[in-house]
Amino acid sequence: MRLNAYLARAGVASRRGADELIKAGRVRVNCAPGQLNTFVERGDRVEVDGEAVTAQRLAYVLLHKPPGTVTTARDPQGRPTVVELVDLPERVVPVGRLDADTTGALLLTNDGPLAHRLAHPKYGVEKVYEAEIEGEPDERDLERLRQGVELDDGLTAPAQARLLGPSTIELTLHEGRKHQVKRMCEAVGHPVRRLHRARYAGLTLEGLEPRAWRELEPSEVTRLRSSPPEPKPGRSGPAPE
Ligand code: URA
Repeated sequence: MRLNAYLARAGVASRRGADELIKAGRVRVNCAPGQLNTFVERGDRVEVDGEAVTAQRLAYVLLHKPPGTVTTARDPQGRPTVVELVDLPERVVPVGRLDADTTGALLLTNDGPLAHRLAHPKYGVEKVYEAEIEGEPDERDLERLRQGVELDDGLTAPAQARLLGPSTIELTLHEGRKHQVKRMCEAVGHPVRRLHRARYAGLTLEGLEPRAWRELEPSEVTRLRSSPPEPKPGRSGPAPE
């Protein structure tokens, strides 16, 4: 594993912070100065400022994100972060982002390759949102959400959309652009009042109150690791259900 990833896994710093430590000459691997391209192998001795460090176990956490928390490890404005809610010795970080006012399912991990994979558009991880919106959408609005809405960063991919109540919709997406649900709903004339993510990659919030979290079961981790990329849905043919 790359030296910066090893240091991040050990909870010493973020990868970028680890690069700074390495550049500053504070990291030694087997008694030699570490370089940005140094690879760490089993049995190697890594030291920061002369102190030995060891990589952490991999941890996978599902958090029921409450409103008013930011999805970053540290917030320059000092707002509460999702990371502060997870009391684990391992340094887990969020996979993707939810807006500060969005609630719901958020995965955190220190497994960089898995996090990267889940966040990669090629894998099209399923995200299910429940949005309370202004007004009452009709079938035409829902169909537009399903077929794709033109946003300033391009047309959205086919999605599933259904009514849960007169002003509440469930939207299932396989992409994760910034503020995507809010922008899609706004584009069809129904701005979002409240947004909740009920499911992420098949993980639901069953048994988790807001602010609560749990570690994933090994079988859940295996499933996340083995899920193949979603085939890209075509734009022609019937709209997906
Ligand atoms: N889409 C949004 O608009 N906000 C979120 O937090 C997640 C998806």
